[in-house]
Amino acid sequence: MASQIPRGAFIVFEGCDRSGKTTQAKKLVDYLNKNNIPSQFVNFPDRTISTGHIIDEYLRKKIELPDQAAHLLFSANRWEREPTLTKLIEQGITLICDRYSFSGVAFSAAKEGMDISWCFQPEKGLPKPDAVLLFKLNEEALQRRKGFGDERYEQTDFQRKVAENYEKLKDNIWIDIDADKDIDTLGLIVKDIVIDTIKKSQFNPLERFV
Ligand code: TMP
Repeated sequence: MASQIPRGAFIVFEGCDRSGKTTQAKKLVDYLNKNNIPSQFVNFPDRTISTGHIIDEYLRKKIELPDQAAHLLFSANRWEREPTLTKLIEQGITLICDRYSFSGVAFSAAKEGMDISWCFQPEKGLPKPDAVLLFKLNEEALQRRKGFGDERYEQTDFQRKVAENYEKLKDNIWIDIDADKDIDTLGLIVKDIVIDTIKKSQFNPLERFV
């Protein structure tokens, strides 16, 4: 009898800028690979692929774009990577993904006149994660972090609206993480959740956004 190959888990880290999620995602991938759980770090926007080059210029304020065009570019950036990501998951590789569709919706819908349900439309059909870890920091802790304020969107009032939008997007796959902790303490909390998710999702079909 043919045995089913366990698929990799698809786990997304979300949160406001400078919340520490990128550091945690990379640390976790190192840990998983060292412990024979094949995994890869992926991030959005992916500034290394075609759509990502324009996004990079936009984020560094080198070019201006209508909000709708910028939004659709971020979505296209995910669609550009979708075939590779799906293949990796099917091959049994767990993906730890730093930002995904939820950033797309939460950031764009924080802008004047951008409707949250309109923003979600182009995400339909993309792989749905098995878990979303939301890294939460209060505003004071966020402002203490180095580098805040350099790129587009890195202002406190905008980030507040992003945080409100995340709350609107939550469903049963979301887990809140209090990110105001030292790197190692936070790492232990994240590791337990991720290992549990990998075990639970390995024989479930990968879902898609509807
Ligand atoms: P990064 O700092 O994680 O590279 O993300 C770059 C910025 O892009 C960050 O402020 C969040 C924002 N963003 C969007 O506006 N839409 C998206 O779809 C994604 C993935 C990120």
